[in-house]
Amino acid sequence: MKISVIGTGYVGLVTGACLAEIGHEVMCTDNDASKIQTLESGGMPIYEPGLEKVIPKARKDGRLKFCANPSDAVAFGDAFFICVGTPPLPNGDADLSAIDHVARVIATEAKSPKLVIEKSTVPARTGQELKRALSVYGRKSNVKFSVASNPEFLREGTAVADFLHPDRIVVGVEDEATERQLKEIYKPVLERKFKCPVHSPECPNVPPPAWLVTTINSAELIKHASNSFLALKISYANMVSDLAERLGADIGEVVRAMGMDPRIGPSFLSAGLGFGGFCLPKDLQAFVHLAERSGVDFTMLREVEKINKKRIDHFYEKLRSALWVVRGKKIGVLGLAFKPNTDDVRFAPAIDLVNHLLGEGAVIRAYDPEAMERARAILPQIEYAKTAYDAAKDAEALLIATEWDEFRKLDWDRIRGAMARPLIVDGRNLLSPREMKDRGFEYRSFGRPD
Ligand code: UDX
Repeated sequence: MKISVIGTGYVGLVTGACLAEIGHEVMCTDNDASKIQTLESGGMPIYEPGLEKVIPKARKDGRLKFCANPSDAVAFGDAFFICVGTPPLPNGDADLSAIDHVARVIATEAKSPKLVIEKSTVPARTGQELKRALSVYGRKSNVKFSVASNPEFLREGTAVADFLHPDRIVVGVEDEATERQLKEIYKPVLERKFKCPVHSPECPNVPPPAWLVTTINSAELIKHASNSFLALKISYANMVSDLAERLGADIGEVVRAMGMDPRIGPSFLSAGLGFGGFCLPKDLQAFVHLAERSGVDFTMLREVEKINKKRIDHFYEKLRSALWVVRGKKIGVLGLAFKPNTDDVRFAPAIDLVNHLLGEGAVIRAYDPEAMERARAILPQIEYAKTAYDAAKDAEALLIATEWDEFRKLDWDRIRGAMARPLIVDGRNLLSPREMKDRGFEYRSFGRPD
């Protein structure tokens, strides 16, 4: 099919590239002309493992194009994926103005019937509003629009794999014809009819995804409910981790045993600095606002937010109790991205932590394998180190804020030799307390006996 993708951020660019990868003809557009310029000159506006392979290949095969003028994208596609940002408004509601703008462009420019698919994460009932907007803006032309919801479950850092090997594809539709069109789009993924561009040979053993058809409202609700549940699991683990500290228990052992129960599952129970990123925090906020506007008590999720917001204070208290005075102290920070394998620093706990430390007068030198350029734009007042060892040099404490795999493999004896004081405060329970003690470090972490 000929598909246009509106928005080339973390979701849109992965969606466009992977749709081309599985055989469709795709045109991507974005209202940020510099992003399109970067893409057209072969650059990558974001770091997402695998994209650097998939995009050049699809472009070479002539199946992936970029355009800065949305009218070209409207003329090109029979189906549209709306992948624009839905950031939180100050009151916590999702800002849907970009969706409204796209609806207006499509409705006023379309000359033939179009399938409009919302992939951006939106509050339930947005699809109904989108349908109304398309018919109101398109009232002068009698072009027919069908609307569908196809929420994304992409995780940054594994988004290409998550698109090509999803465990489920959820579509919210209003008629069979629309379901058939979506099934046509995802056929190669459902039948696993493509050669994986980024994975190891055992890919074919990954079971094909479940195909889940429901209404638009339910599809939208599935997304918010899923992400909020993941956030709940993390805050639950953090709450239990604080109790484990008081009781001298080990949260790592506790959640490992919990996760062996298939009803609980092992993932999203890692205690630490809590959840950040452009998805969980904002989806949780939007979900709470949607529920409260609908007259439903979501106090439970407000508690999830509250627990998460306190993680930085808990972490800072660990550092302060070890350092006594923080003001004027040189502190190394390892990790700025909101999670490993991404350069994204939006709503990153590491950024909040650095701002808190700056407010207390600390002198910061930070290192991150991928996110330093983006961090520099919002934190110009700290030093950036070329390596983790450079960040540790003369530091009175070294903080681990993002669990990059490369930090597991550091030469800790070399780190200890570089530091003014061998104090590690680990915000992601990346390292082993026993091992760090044996290497001569003072070591603090979450929910584990020091
Ligand atoms: C999330 C959802 O996982 C994904 O399904 C959805 O489509 C988009 O939002 P993402 O935001 O990319 O994906 O990151 P995720 O891997 O979910 O991590 C979110 C945050 O939770 C990160 O800051 C991470 O550090 C934190 N986290 C994750 C924990 O603190 N503990 C955990 O056990 C897992």
